[in-house]
Amino acid sequence: MRILVLGSGAREHAIIAALVAEGGHEITAAPGNAGIQRDVEVVRLDIKSPELVTELATEGGYDLVVIGPEAPLVAGVADALQRAGVPVFGPTQAAARIEGSKSFAKDVMARAGVPTGFDTTATTLDEVRAALDASAPPFVLKADGLAAGKGVIVTDDRAAAEAHAEQFLPDGPILVEEFLAGPEVSLFVITDGTDVMPLAPAQDYKRLGDGDTGPNTGGMGAYSPLPWLAERFGSEQAFVDEVVSTVALPTIRAMAEAGTPFAGLLYCGLIVTRSGVKVIEFNARFGDPETQVVLPRIESGFADALLAAAQGTLGSAAPLVWRDSAAVTVVLASEGYPGDPVTGRAITGVEAAEALEGVRVLHAATGEGEQGLTATGGRVLNVVGTGATLAQARDRAYDALSRIELQGGQARTDIAAGA
Ligand code: AMP
Ligand code: GLY
Repeated sequence: MRILVLGSGAREHAIIAALVAEGGHEITAAPGNAGIQRDVEVVRLDIKSPELVTELATEGGYDLVVIGPEAPLVAGVADALQRAGVPVFGPTQAAARIEGSKSFAKDVMARAGVPTGFDTTATTLDEVRAALDASAPPFVLKADGLAAGKGVIVTDDRAAAEAHAEQFLPDGPILVEEFLAGPEVSLFVITDGTDVMPLAPAQDYKRLGDGDTGPNTGGMGAYSPLPWLAERFGSEQAFVDEVVSTVALPTIRAMAEAGTPFAGLLYCGLIVTRSGVKVIEFNARFGDPETQVVLPRIESGFADALLAAAQGTLGSAAPLVWRDSAAVTVVLASEGYPGDPVTGRAITGVEAAEALEGVRVLHAATGEGEQGLTATGGRVLNVVGTGATLAQARDRAYDALSRIELQGGQARTDIAAGA
């Protein structure tokens, strides 16, 4: 298959690595990054431009375009490709609102009967205060629109909750949501708008510091599978089946009924509460860094599944074949992340790390200069270890990480430790 992958992060590097490992594909990335460029051809392109992407896709004769990040989805790139008759993995602009608007997502869940926290939508500070009066700490407040990952606050501090609301109210409504207690799980579901194909569950580590301390980040590590989940539900499959029947399928049906069918990757962000599995968010794309641990566990069928989702034939697609393996990824971030990351510093040891068995180093924000590899952003590298068990995968990831040098680099030491 000739495949064009849009995006420039470690998530896209993971998608490309999975397609390369499957074999038999000709892959181009746009715009890619220094790591992706070592694996496949890259093309410089503004991937938020529907016209430019459609031109590249049609002239390049691609069989499939895979959209990694949300920005091109929100910009309508999938719509333009569909109109041009190019199979595209990624939802339309209208369907991507399930990620971009928290209140849209809540409406869909209400119509679909999907379990989620109770919420109140507030449009003034007085309404926010009334909603806070009616709830108990910890308070959960969510800005309605895409807020570059900064729109959600979970806090015991009433003054901080009100300050958050004041900051985001000018941009739109605030959702005051019930706090859901329990471990978080991400489940990715490939869908063509009618049928679904769930992937393996993964867990993300959102906080910067060990023991879930410090500020929220884009994700500092992840692992898959989740043995504690299998214990709790009897098997991982039982958990996946429950999420498919109570969350994914009803949501996909409600989206279709609303005239905004969702085809692509439905990311179900879940909390396993004592009263069942509940949704805290949907995303319209693969999660980062969970993708980096889910995809290495797929043995075959990935590209065919993506194409079937794009063409509306998922119901008759061959099931994915999974490896009986585990994967752990640890993110190496720049000094100063998630605030103001220090960039431009040299990275060494990546080759030595990748020479180890069961190790892949995926690039998130790197550049290739005269002096070699440099860090160009906050989250720089994802060191992925795979193995027969989580313990082995974890040892490999941390062994590999110890070979890599980045001045001031930050990484958690407890990814998958509790699992
Ligand atoms: P988000 O920015 O939407 O990924 O949310 C950030 C984090 O806030 C999530 O990963 C959860 O840890 C937490 N969170 C969101 N909603 C809730 C909720 N209703 N109850 C508890 N924690 C939540
Ligand atoms: N891992 C969180 C996200 O991709 O939104």
